[in-house]
Amino acid sequence: MRDHLHLGKGCAKPNAKKFGRKTVACAWLFTIAVGVSSSALAADLESGKKKAQEVCAACHNMNGVSTIPDYPKLAGQHPDYLAKTLRDYKSGARKNAIMAGFAAALTPQDIENLAAYYAAQPAVLASKY
Ligand code: HEC
Repeated sequence: MRDHLHLGKGCAKPNAKKFGRKTVACAWLFTIAVGVSSSALAADLESGKKKAQEVCAACHNMNGVSTIPDYPKLAGQHPDYLAKTLRDYKSGARKNAIMAGFAAALTPQDIENLAAYYAAQPAVLASKY
């Protein structure tokens, strides 16, 4: 999960004078971060692409830019949002009869892969502000 965990800047430069507590705190943070990132699944774009082709492209297209108004555009969306949404469809926290069925068949790894794949497609939604 590149770029998902931001350690405080202070952790990057151990300062000899402050070498006590802060270092310990940073080491502790680092341990947590490593723990989280190894349990969080690293996204695999190629697998995401393959799954998108097999399942999602029929509605969302391979580039994540659906031309059918009922099917949302996914291209360039934040990967965290896409992954959370897919988990919510799967758990039933977000209800949609169509997506519930597709999300149900996805593993947590599929979700990370698909979220990363669609997030990596060039965005087409314009900002008005
Ligand atoms: C049969 C058409 C269809 C297929 C196939 C399909 N989707 Fe969807 N998708 C939809 C519709 C319709 C919605 C809007 C549902 C709603 O209103 O919550 C949606 C919504 C979504 C959203 C939420 C977008 C947002 O902006 O909140 C995501 C993410 C998503 N789909 C991903 C996928 C992925 C990944 C796959 C493949 C595993 C997939 N979809 C397959 C029709 C489809």
